[in-house]
Amino acid sequence: MSKGTKVLTSFGVAVLGLLLILPAGYAGDMSKGKAAEMVLATVKAARTVFVKGVLADAKKGGIKGNEDWVKDDHGIMLPAQFVKEIGKEIRSFELGLLGTDPLYASNAAKSPKEKEMLAELAGGKKMVTGEDGGKTIGMSADFAIVQGCADCHNEHAKTTKKDWKKGDFMGAIVVRFK
Ligand code: HEC
Repeated sequence: MSKGTKVLTSFGVAVLGLLLILPAGYAGDMSKGKAAEMVLATVKAARTVFVKGVLADAKKGGIKGNEDWVKDDHGIMLPAQFVKEIGKEIRSFELGLLGTDPLYASNAAKSPKEKEMLAELAGGKKMVTGEDGGKTIGMSADFAIVQGCADCHNEHAKTTKKDWKKGDFMGAIVVRFK
């Protein structure tokens, strides 16, 4: 084999190696992102079912959503609490809510990367996934789809923002896992 052929052969082997390794690497990344997207889609659907199928029906029977639902015999949890309660039951990964101006500190972005991702959602993306210090983070945008979202947040004792209005970007459902 001439020197030129040797160089060409090694080059060919290297390229072939890269072709085999790269897609596998990408597939690994993609499946984590995909997993995050599927969890977010499921949680969103569960919350919608809770709002439309449970809260709406309960209201007709005089049962209302109340943040203090534990103490209220005629109150059940709010949609945000429903999501957080599901999160509390899950041991294998984190599920929660994030707010741009959260009512509670526990709902604030946990890192610069999370802030960056929230900003991407504020910019118009519906869902984003990313890597943050060895963790995969997925976020699904949350908007004040009805005036009621804005009203309740504006009137809450803990609010730092009192001018929420219908259509505002408010935060995200978030998943974090290793
Ligand atoms: C009746 C009051 C009420 C209504 C209506 C309501 N929320 Fe909330 N929301 C809360 C409370 C209370 C929390 C904090 C729950 C917790 O962390 O325990 C919260 C939390 C959130 C958070 C997490 C960030 C934060 O502010 O702490 C987002 C995002 C959010 N709500 C969006 C919405 C959207 C979107 C709607 C309408 C579809 C909505 N909320 C309707 C009371 C309400």
